[in-house]
Amino acid sequence: MIKTQNDVRLKIYPKELVYQLKSYEKIHIDLFDNSNDASLYLAQIIKKAILMKQEKNEHIVLGLATGSSPIKLYEELVRMHEQEELSFKNVYTFNLDEYYGLKPAEQQSYHYFMQEYLFKHLDIPSKNIHIPSGKLGLNEIDAYCQNYEQAIDNLGGIDIQILGIGRTGHIGFNEPGSQKSSNTRLVRLDNITRQDAAEEFNGIENVPYKAITMGVNSILKAKEIYIMAWGQHKSDVVKEAIEGEINQEITASFLQEHLNTRFFLDIAAAQKLTRVQHPWKVGNCEWTDDLICRAVIWLSQKTGKPILKLTDKDYSEFGLSELLFKVNNAYQINIKIFNRLQHTITGWPGGKPNTADKNRPERAKPAKKSVLIFSPHPDDDVISMGGTILRLVEQGHEVHVAYQTSGNIAVHNRDALRYIEFFEAYYTSLIGKKLNSKNLKTYKNFLLDETIDKNTVEIRQVKGLIRKGEARTAARFCGIDEANIHFLDLPFYETGQIKKKDMTQDDITITKRLIEQISPHQIFAAGDLSDPHKTHRVCLDIILKSLKEIDLPKFKKQCWLWLYRGAWEEYGVEEIEMAVPLSPDELLYKRKAIFMHKSQKDSAMYPGKDRREFWQRAEDRNRHTAAQYRALGFAEYEAMEAFKRWKY
Ligand code: F6R
Repeated sequence: MIKTQNDVRLKIYPKELVYQLKSYEKIHIDLFDNSNDASLYLAQIIKKAILMKQEKNEHIVLGLATGSSPIKLYEELVRMHEQEELSFKNVYTFNLDEYYGLKPAEQQSYHYFMQEYLFKHLDIPSKNIHIPSGKLGLNEIDAYCQNYEQAIDNLGGIDIQILGIGRTGHIGFNEPGSQKSSNTRLVRLDNITRQDAAEEFNGIENVPYKAITMGVNSILKAKEIYIMAWGQHKSDVVKEAIEGEINQEITASFLQEHLNTRFFLDIAAAQKLTRVQHPWKVGNCEWTDDLICRAVIWLSQKTGKPILKLTDKDYSEFGLSELLFKVNNAYQINIKIFNRLQHTITGWPGGKPNTADKNRPERAKPAKKSVLIFSPHPDDDVISMGGTILRLVEQGHEVHVAYQTSGNIAVHNRDALRYIEFFEAYYTSLIGKKLNSKNLKTYKNFLLDETIDKNTVEIRQVKGLIRKGEARTAARFCGIDEANIHFLDLPFYETGQIKKKDMTQDDITITKRLIEQISPHQIFAAGDLSDPHKTHRVCLDIILKSLKEIDLPKFKKQCWLWLYRGAWEEYGVEEIEMAVPLSPDELLYKRKAIFMHKSQKDSAMYPGKDRREFWQRAEDRNRHTAAQYRALGFAEYEAMEAFKRWKY
């Protein structure tokens, strides 16, 4: 096995689990704080392997994947080539798969993907590159696939195979039902896989039904395998592949039999693994207060009993006697955790004036706070904390909302067209003559075609204005002063495409300026680990970097940062540090505020993997949080919004 350089340090998370608790895991895993660190680490492994072969004048064969998972890895390899003179002249590559029916020049094809992200930037000879062809006649496929396998064997087999994992558990396009002995062949794609590709193809109806893929057997023949998974949406399938039985329904589980496989995970993808979720089942734990809280909540959910009814017997029967030994008896643990959770519940998200605040999530003073709510897209504020905004306004705080990005790519062409037509008609009725603009005619022609995705600067301007109007209406509806609504239009977002630019100092300067201008006592921000296009993550990084640059001790003391989760997931009760209850009426009011975002209603442009509308997700999760508190033995609320404090 190749030894790696230590430029990127391997981090284990959560921090209290630094020792390896692995007994449920049947594949070696490397767990990282984030996908960036993991990708850089993997790039170092590949670089080292290429250099080792070069020293011996030998070639190396890489098996390559496409999709979102390896993008950062490829970017890093390109950087190594450009800045560290890493040559790829001795590298042969075999890609796992290609959609059947697509020509190499088509943007959704894996040929195109590989050219764009990797090959066109490297010095790899084009004859060394192999990607299955998507344009074969049915009668040519068998011979072609055999030749593909043969070509790999002729070069001595794959030295390093890179893989991603699909939500169906597939590796390559080996969908559920694939045999362990399968080789390169034509396959049908699972519906979930097609759904996941729908965004790139502008609708599921355009996603091919078939693909040519290397088989499970072809993959297992590789000498080393690195499989990557990032994000919460992969966490279920990751657990099944790593901890479940080997089975054809999750083809990644076959990797359990390959002794030189490493699973690279970020913490969001690893969150369902037993070592992270229930470490006490795996081995001895360091019982921090947070871990005790997690274990008690788990026990309460497992037994179906409220916390205060858990007995010594329950703790012992469910493998938590170690905890009893540490703390003495069930009652003491129960009451400690019950109080801890009780103190997270407050109807006063800005602090309750004139009361002792030792056991409250927020400070009582100053009674009137200035509050800055950052919303990555124009609707995250109301989706995630609409009820809390209403309370903050009602309780007399000075509430500002800052929309970080324009969100302009997420508007359907038909909606943009409707606004332009309205504008034309309104202009005519005001001025008494027709608006004669050549440009407007061109935009209209673009917009008339729903399948064309031409988000030019001008069209983005129209779409951005639509989203601004919606955000303003919703914020006003929540009682926020017109003067306190800020649109930052952060530049990193402005590509007109799903893929965004890296953040720059400009993004930080814009954000810092607003924070300094308002000098808030509270900042609320989206603290997401999983957002399909990473916008939330970047938006949070920008805020954290801005706060770091401000770095005034007095300001740090004054300004508390609260995180909420965006539309994709919610905090578990064990993580929540402030839970704000909503009455049925408040929940309804919040729903109406979300409805103000008409362009995101019914069929949002980018709904992610979840088919529910944003307001439904918001209500489901707010109700679910309340139900969880109720089941733990607390009062019954209609719904709750959840926050976690980030100490910066
Ligand atoms: C791509 C491939 C697939 C992907 C998998 C994960 O060549 O073979 O198995 O690796 O679908 O895709 P992402 O990384 O987009 O989540």
